[in-house]
Order: sequence, then structure tokens, then C-alpha cells
Amino acid sequence: MPKDPAQTALAEHVEGGGFHGPAHVAIIMDGNGRWATQRGRPRLFGHHAGARRVREVVEACPRLGIRYLTIFAFSTENWKRTQVEVAGLMSLFRRYITREMRELVEQNVRVRFIGDRVRLDPKLIAMMDELEALTEANTLVHLTVAINYGGRDEVARATKRLARDVAAGRLDPESVDEETLPRYLDTHVLPDPDLVIRTSGEARISNFLLWQSAYSEYEFIDTLWPDFTPAELERLCRSYGRRDRRFGGVTR
Ligand code: FPP
Repeated sequence: MPKDPAQTALAEHVEGGGFHGPAHVAIIMDGNGRWATQRGRPRLFGHHAGARRVREVVEACPRLGIRYLTIFAFSTENWKRTQVEVAGLMSLFRRYITREMRELVEQNVRVRFIGDRVRLDPKLIAMMDELEALTEANTLVHLTVAINYGGRDEVARATKRLARDVAAGRLDPESVDEETLPRYLDTHVLPDPDLVIRTSGEARISNFLLWQSAYSEYEFIDTLWPDFTPAELERLCRSYGRRDRRFGGVTR
């Protein structure tokens, strides 16, 4: 029996509900710009609305039995946007951390960041470090935020670290198999996503969790991210529960 009361409640909910939803949901939060444009507002207005949806979705996770939530906040390609939008997004991340810190700690949410930190502002990096440290002992929901993240970049960085270990004699190249590379990925402590959701009607994965989503189920939905609700997440989780995941095998 888990000792943490919140975890116990979650376990009872999931077991008692008889519904096998995804334990790990990953989301490509797309459509903020179009949502803002439709309202005649600047793109950053859409990103701010999107940040409010992040809060609601995190809050809904325990009720839906979601233990791991991974969200794509800024890709390695997003630097190509205007300087105003990039700076606005970076400032939004800092505001999100400042505003949500206390709530995330109280809600027993453990926060991690994935992606390459080298291009990020040192002040933002310090805030990310602080939030990770403050929530380190939390256990109810594992929230992973991808910032300056790209799946190919992650695999390249992982390969570099793996190669260094081989060169230093810490890793036998003959021992390298499918289990080896994931240990070098940013996500090395996380399970693979069960369900990947992309909002805004685009049906592509845009360099998100390339290695990890090999056997994930996908949902591409038309809703723009700022209109996404916990009710829609619940609908997708229930639909996931009816799917037959075979991982290349046959139905038992
Ligand atoms: C894609 O929509 C969205 C992003 C590049 C940014 C995602 C960021 C948030 C949801 C804001 C907050 C996140 C956190 C963690 C506080 P888009 O701009 O590409 O939309 P478009 O395709 O309609 O132009």
C-alpha cells in the first residue's frame, strides 16, 4: 500500500474505476498562435491562454490516473520565430515557474525539464533548477516540461555521451543494445509515453519524443490548445482505455 495519502487515493480511484487509462500522457500543445489570430490578438496572447490550460490539465491528472505528463513547450526549431515571440515565451516560462511553484509543491507534483539548456538564459536555468529541487520529493504526478527540446537533438546528445563512455572504457561497445541508448536520453527516468496527443489539427510529431514514442498511441485532435479542457483529456483517456495495444505481437 503506498504511504502517501494522495497516492493511495489515486490508486483507489484507478483500481475502483475499472478503467485502464494511460499512465503517461505526452502533449504537443499546438494552436496558440491561430487561437490568438482568430481573436485579432498577438500570438503571445495565445501562449498566455495556453499556459492557463497547462495548469488545468496538470490538476486533472490525479483524477484521471495520469502519473506522468510530458508537455512540449519550446522546440529546438522554435528559435526561428520572431525575437518578440521567443522573448515572450521565455518570459512566460519564468512567470509560470514563479506563479505555479507553490501550487505544484502543494499538489505533490514533481517537475522535471528536458531539452538542451545551453541556449537558455541563465536566469531561467536557475529557476528551472530551483523548481526541480523544490519538487524532488513529490510523488503524485510527474510533470516533464520540454524546453529547447528536439528528439533528434536529444538522440545526438545521448549518442555523444555514450561515445564518451566507450572512449573512456566505461562502456563495452559490444554490449550496446536497445536498452542502452534510453539510459542516455533526457527522459532516462521516465517510462515511455502511452498516449501522445497533438492539438490543432496537424497530424505530425514534429521531433517530439522520437525514440520514446515508438509504440505510443496517438490522438490528433482539432481543438486549438487554448481551448483544450480536462473533459477532452478525459474523453481521450477513455478512448485510449478501449484500444488494443499489441506492441507488435498479437491480441491475447
Ligand atoms: C505551439 O503553438 C505552441 C508553442 C510553440 C508554445 C507552447 C507554449 C505554451 C502552451 C505556453 C506555456 C507553457 C508552459 C509550460 C508555461 P503555435 O504557436 O505553433 O500555434 P500556431 O500553430 O497556431 O501558430
